[in-house]
Amino acid sequence: MSYAHGTPPEGAAADWTIPQRWERYSAAEHALWDRLFDRQAKLLPARAAPEFLAGLDVLRLGDSGIPNFDALSERLMNATGWQVVAVPGLIPDDVFFEHLANRRFVAGNFIRTPEQLDYLQEPDVFHDVFGHVPLLANPVFADYMQAYGQGGQRANGLGAIQRLARLYWYTVEFGLIQSAEGLRIYGAGIVSSHGESIFALDDPSPNRVGFDLLRLMRTRYRIDDYQQSYFVIDSFEDLLRQTLETDFAPLYEQVAQLTDIAPADVLPEDRIYTRGTQAYALAKGVA
Ligand code: PHE
Ligand code: FE
Repeated sequence: MSYAHGTPPEGAAADWTIPQRWERYSAAEHALWDRLFDRQAKLLPARAAPEFLAGLDVLRLGDSGIPNFDALSERLMNATGWQVVAVPGLIPDDVFFEHLANRRFVAGNFIRTPEQLDYLQEPDVFHDVFGHVPLLANPVFADYMQAYGQGGQRANGLGAIQRLARLYWYTVEFGLIQSAEGLRIYGAGIVSSHGESIFALDDPSPNRVGFDLLRLMRTRYRIDDYQQSYFVIDSFEDLLRQTLETDFAPLYEQVAQLTDIAPADVLPEDRIYTRGTQAYALAKGVA
């Protein structure tokens, strides 16, 4: 999601896009992409949703070096009609929604430094492209992201962006899915993180709870460390169907009447896959 306000920085277009300037990446930057890619490529075949892994293949993201957005967009356009455009960093919510609603995914064009291998505050090209773009090659997820953009434009008018953002967080960024092969990760924040790729599936600390739209929209989230709860969808079709069929306006009003749920809380009505020990969070003094 995005947090900047005001007008685009110098050199950016009115819609905040900038040229990727692929030719400017250094050999060391391409090598850093390869290093991040290889590390995740080893980990993900047994952990990521099959649809994510298929996207990596179709888009040839395993080719060496930081992907050129023009070449990537051409493949993605053939698959689902989406494009990848570069932005300098975080952008205003309304601009972000407008891009998604028009099947344009905005990606940071810079790459982290080697010192930031495992943690960074602003999404870089590895998080944005490796994490987000593979699923955009899946027709169902591609439609979900566009619908989310349109939902964002509507939420903007209803003053409900913070509630809707929780849906993005717990699906697009940190979602789990019940696949034929068992529980898998698909959220971009997980699949692009070495540590969380393991933690989200294997660690006894976090809760893993069945997806429920109202429950999820009431749940606060952590932006500074691994999640304390993950939500599990049954399929991308089910996620798309539920979010399309539900009118969010009354849902936002309902959520406004209810208390927020803390990131670690489990409710009696939750469909629980794993009740977390929260040992990880407790050790850090946060739970
Ligand atoms: N159905 C939602 C609404 O009424 C829009 C939406 C669809 C939001 C898909 C997110 C994802 O606002
Ligand atoms: Fe992201």
